[in-house]
Amino acid sequence: MSKSRVYVTRLIPEGGLKLVREACDAEIWEGETPPPREVLLQKVRGIDGLLPLLTDAIDDELMDAAGPQLKVIANYAVGYNNIDVDAATARGIAVGNTPGVLTDTTADFAFTLLMAAARRVVEGADFVRAGKWKTWGPTLLLGRDIHHATLGIVGFGRIGRGMARRASGFEMKVLFYDPMVGSDDPVAQELGAQAVDLDTLLSESDFVSTHVPLMPETHHLIDAQALKRMKPSAILVNTARGPVVDPEALYQALKDGEIAYAALDVTEPEPIDVDSPLLELPNCIIVPHIASGSIVTRTRMAEIAARNLIAGVRGEPLPAWVNPEVGQR
Ligand code: DGY
Repeated sequence: MSKSRVYVTRLIPEGGLKLVREACDAEIWEGETPPPREVLLQKVRGIDGLLPLLTDAIDDELMDAAGPQLKVIANYAVGYNNIDVDAATARGIAVGNTPGVLTDTTADFAFTLLMAAARRVVEGADFVRAGKWKTWGPTLLLGRDIHHATLGIVGFGRIGRGMARRASGFEMKVLFYDPMVGSDDPVAQELGAQAVDLDTLLSESDFVSTHVPLMPETHHLIDAQALKRMKPSAILVNTARGPVVDPEALYQALKDGEIAYAALDVTEPEPIDVDSPLLELPNCIIVPHIASGSIVTRTRMAEIAARNLIAGVRGEPLPAWVNPEVGQR
């Protein structure tokens, strides 16, 4: 029996690629950057399965280009805002993602950014490299305490909860905002995290960390008004998706001292324009979307994406299925 044809839009860790190569007739884009749109539209023609990255827009046009035999789109990410899931569902195409395996790694990194901003780690390293370290200074690069401060978590899903767990080790007070979760949630209770409305969270938190998926409701959730509600001493951490924070409003807020600091793993657009004024601010740390980037986690993500792809081309239930209703038809 001939193997199903699949296309993988980048070199992912070998553990996943090996599974894909063994089970399928696979073509893999080996470029360092994503396949150009016209190449992708051409490469997907006639394939049974697609393993894309969050950098590939998988929309109606692309599904049309692939053809009616396309059975599965197995995203190499937990977030799937790059995929038009409704369009896939309407065509009976299964969509998979990589939940669970990256929760702790991403929460570790969100906490790393929180600490790096609070204690001005990047500024300190730049200071030393620039040869400015002359002596121990009583007021040199003073930062803000993390312990016993208030952390506001926007989005109390897996990663938001991971953040709350880490905060408990620093004896922080934890507030969270999530329209789907209340203070009676067992994890919230176990961690002593309190559900509040967004305004309360913004105005009472020393640190605000975003952990929501990107959807129309969360686009620019942190806008000029939200930033104005925050404390002038507050630190914003975004490891969710860039467009959750309005970048122009953030620039103004950081420049005008409406908030103290921001640490961003994700930006709008991505990658950030090298001329972005945000890159000129000393009180803004920006890193290139690496929160899930540990060796072990990226390998596990590759394995889950591969298993989703293989199950999908075989018409079996996906291990991590975004639109299981497709299977119930
Ligand atoms: C995701 O999986 O959605 C992250 O943003 C990348 O790991």
